[in-house]
Amino acid sequence: MSRIAYVNGQYVRHADAGVHIEDRGYQFGDGVYEVCEVRDGRLIDEPRHLARLWRSLAELKIAPPLGEAALKIVLRETVRRNRVRDGIVYLQVTRGVARRDHYFPSNAAPALVVTSRSADRAKADAMAEAGVKVITVPENRWPRVDIKSIGLLPNVLAKQQAKEAGAREAWFVDREGRVTEGGSTNAWIVTAEGVIVTRPADDGILRGVTRAAVIDMAEQLQMRIEERPFTVEEARRAKEAFNTAATAIVTPVIAIDGAPVGDGKPGPVALGLRRRFHEFAHRSES
Ligand code: PDD
Repeated sequence: MSRIAYVNGQYVRHADAGVHIEDRGYQFGDGVYEVCEVRDGRLIDEPRHLARLWRSLAELKIAPPLGEAALKIVLRETVRRNRVRDGIVYLQVTRGVARRDHYFPSNAAPALVVTSRSADRAKADAMAEAGVKVITVPENRWPRVDIKSIGLLPNVLAKQQAKEAGAREAWFVDREGRVTEGGSTNAWIVTAEGVIVTRPADDGILRGVTRAAVIDMAEQLQMRIEERPFTVEEARRAKEAFNTAATAIVTPVIAIDGAPVGDGKPGPVALGLRRRFHEFAHRSES
């Protein structure tokens, strides 16, 4: 079966899908994206992903390419045509195609691309059971990381650096020595007292959808949670650390810059949150 992509109103073979060379996403990184987990054929946290998409578009003054109802149909149809039960659906909106000029074009229609692919759930669970290593890198991104822009060069470079160091993720660290977030994940620790800590959503991070769902879940479970920045030093002394993202759910972190976190094994809080994520965080959904 060949993969299918949605490109500006048409479902096309993935292998044949393309956009114009003067698409502003290609020329300027002038666009936004979302990645939504698909589980048992359902889109996880779709309302929060769409709300964030609408906010990102508004911040960049890009008109939504479709209404919300139509976009939901396209997302489902792309998942269905690719026969994805467990995996992701990716969507990207750019300001459209126009002669290269920095100013916004006056007559370009926004461009929409949607793809979907399967992920190996067992492999992801095995990675979580083993835990992942992170490195730290200086924060070098623009201040508007709350916008889910496709301009991800600092994230790409940081994650590549992590990979070359034998780690999975890179945590950005601000000038005060405090962790902002990972290259494609939000960062968390569990203190010696068992308090779950993550940086406030309005301070130098992407407002992760998984982050919000984990906070809701932790509250439902009456766990102690604090939204405040933490330093690399505090993370090194923490009992546990973990990352969250639609693609990672909750993934334990076992080492930071080569030094073990806690006993160097995935901790019970992170593994417990991971295990219960769908059960608790999505209980109210259809
Ligand atoms: N990344 N922080 C950054 C910088 C991210 O890129 C992401 C997601 C997150 C977690 O957000 P969420 O829980 O809404 O997925 C935090 C996606 C998965 C990606 O770029 O592939």
